[in-house]
This record gives sequence, C-alpha cells and structure tokens, in this order.
Amino acid sequence: MFRALLPAVALLSAASMPLVADASPISELKSVKVDLPDSDRMFPGPGSDAINNNCLACHSAGMVLNQPELSKQAWAAEVDKMINTYKAPVAPEDVAPIVDYLASRKGVK
Ligand code: HEC
Repeated sequence: MFRALLPAVALLSAASMPLVADASPISELKSVKVDLPDSDRMFPGPGSDAINNNCLACHSAGMVLNQPELSKQAWAAEVDKMINTYKAPVAPEDVAPIVDYLASRKGVK
C-alpha cells in the first residue's frame, strides 16, 4: 500500500516544483530617483570642508546659517561653546577654518 503511493507522491512534488520556480521574485531590487530637499543640509561654497566635517552631527547647516551676523570674535566664541559646552568633537586644526568660514559668510559687514 505504502509502496503504491510513492510514485504518486513523487509525481505530485515534481508537478509543484515549477510553480515555485516560476513565482515572480519578491526581493528584486530597483533603483529609484528621489529628489531630497537637501538645499540646507550642507554648508555651501568654498572653504566649507571643515565646517561640513565638524558641525553637522547635531544640527543642520540651515540652523547655523539662519543665525544673526556676528563678529569674527563672537563666531570664535560660538565654536568654543560648541566644543566646551556641547562637547562637539572638533579637531583643533579645524577651528580656524570654521571661524573663517562663519566670519566670511555670516560676519558683521
Ligand atoms: C555635539 C553636538 C553639536 C555639535 C557637533 C555642534 N553643535 Fe552647535 N549646537 C549644539 C547644541 C546642543 C546647541 C543649542 C541647542 C540648539 O539650539 O539646538 C547648538 C547651537 C548652535 C548654534 C545656535 C546658537 C547657540 O549658541 O545656541 C550655532 C550657531 C551653532 N550651534 C554652531 C555650531 C558650529 C559652527 C559647530 C561646529 C564647530 C557646531 N555648532 C557643532 C550642539 C552641537
């Protein structure tokens, strides 16, 4: 009895194989093109490398660039505050280029 059933079982499983193989792949990856609103995510323009590398971990570039214009001394104090009060990990050699960038973009005229 059991022996007689075996071929039927084999046939059934063979017949169901192509069904599985023909099923359309579920995990097919497709590239999409999305325009993200990134206009104020980075600091723009020349000399922005140091500030982009050090000042985007906690807030956006837009937040910094929308501050009032300050003297170079006040910007230096602001960068000091980020480093000492908020513990921003800024490399010492990046401080001067950051202050220069801020003073040239957002300095009092
Ligand atoms: C470790 C996190 C961190 C990093 C990195 C950081 N900041 Fe900030 N920053 C803060 C916090 C916290 C505030 C105050 C709270 C707020 O307004 O979000 C702030 C506020 C500011 C403000 C608004 C004025 C003020 O004093 O509140 C400016 C301008 C600013 N940061 C500039 C910078 C610049 C320039 C850098 C790079 C040198 C920098 N931040 C890196 C945490 C950070």
